[in-house]
Amino acid sequence: MSIARVFIKNFRLFREIDLDLNKENLLILGPNGSGKTSVLEAINLLISRKSIKTRDLKECINDDSEGFSLGLEIINKQEVLTIKAAKQANKRITIKTEAGNTTVKKENLPIVQFIQAKDLRMIEGEAELRRDFFNKTMFHVEHSSEIDYKNYKKALSQRNISLKRKVSEGELRVWNEALIDTGNILAEKQKSFFKGIFKKSLEEKGKKVETEDIFLNQINVVFKKGWPDHISLKRALVESTEKDRALGYTSVGPHRLDLKYFINNKLAKSFLSRGQQKLLIILNFFKFNDILVTKNKSGIVYLIDDITSELDQQNLAMVLEQATELKAQLLITAIRGKSLSNMTPFLDKFRQLNL
Ligand SMILES: Nc1ncnc2c1ncn2[C@@H]1O[C@H](COP(=O)(O)OP(=O)(O)OP(=O)(O)O)[C@@H](O)[C@H]1O
Ligand SMILES: [Mg+2]
Repeated sequence: MSIARVFIKNFRLFREIDLDLNKENLLILGPNGSGKTSVLEAINLLISRKSIKTRDLKECINDDSEGFSLGLEIINKQEVLTIKAAKQANKRITIKTEAGNTTVKKENLPIVQFIQAKDLRMIEGEAELRRDFFNKTMFHVEHSSEIDYKNYKKALSQRNISLKRKVSEGELRVWNEALIDTGNILAEKQKSFFKGIFKKSLEEKGKKVETEDIFLNQINVVFKKGWPDHISLKRALVESTEKDRALGYTSVGPHRLDLKYFINNKLAKSFLSRGQQKLLIILNFFKFNDILVTKNKSGIVYLIDDITSELDQQNLAMVLEQATELKAQLLITAIRGKSLSNMTPFLDKFRQLNL
């Protein structure tokens, strides 16, 4: 399954573009502020139903208009699937996904792997970035885990409301019970996904890694479950009650999981340069391609924003080579002119959009 056409109207700086992709990979080139990220944002919004930059989709409406509309045409074997989104300033967004006249379910849409600027801080930045990457990958591989996650988040939000309302011990205990039940189920899934798939995939030796990039073959990733080792979730919640009441939210549990990356027993965040971190993070996304393809029949689309930044010639070439070998469609942006010469051997694998 792949994207054949993209249509954008009155979204961010665009008045109207209609792009015939013909199922090919897309390379979007342009200077700063020309709308490269906005094109990826629009495609991501159509498939995953979320904006990457804002919660308020009103901000995406072009300043000179009343509403935006977006469209994607996806070809799956002989079937054409369309996703259409429309948003007026004072109305909720509507998103319709259809094949012929029948509505298509979420699991029949391609999986989006969006690699954006903030992901490049995944190793050195806030835990939320690592947690998001881990949980989303888990949802795409163990589909039922997303429901366990939602159940847990519901219980979590109820406990947090109770903490803020400063309810009695007795009432808080009721919410603790719900949190412990759903939390243990989720934590078990996270632990077994980490052990069974995540760690193995990330630590797998790269096929095409040069000897100079030996650090890529020395990764060790460690799982932190979100509360102190060797105690139960129940005990962790009891022990943190006073602190949580003061904070007004729950400070322990599987929603606080984290990953630590080591290279040769040294913490990767202090050991690796920025370019090396970017390389490692992009290749980490790629390492899950095979398993995602096996677990999802509807295909994978990689949206890679600003691919050239931070990478030297050799590493950019390595990333591009590995990207073009993925079983997936690629939509990549780059600043025109910059380092493009390194992309030349790969350019014929892309349809180009010059903004
Ligand atoms: N609602 C809007 N209406 C009109 N213009 C907008 C709107 N939202 C954002 N913009 C403009 O769109 C541009 C941002 O585009 P975008 O971030 O996609 O650029 P880019 O090509 O990714 O740039 P860079 O190379 O710096 O990453 C900015 O110039 C911004 O002012
Ligand atoms: Mg951008």
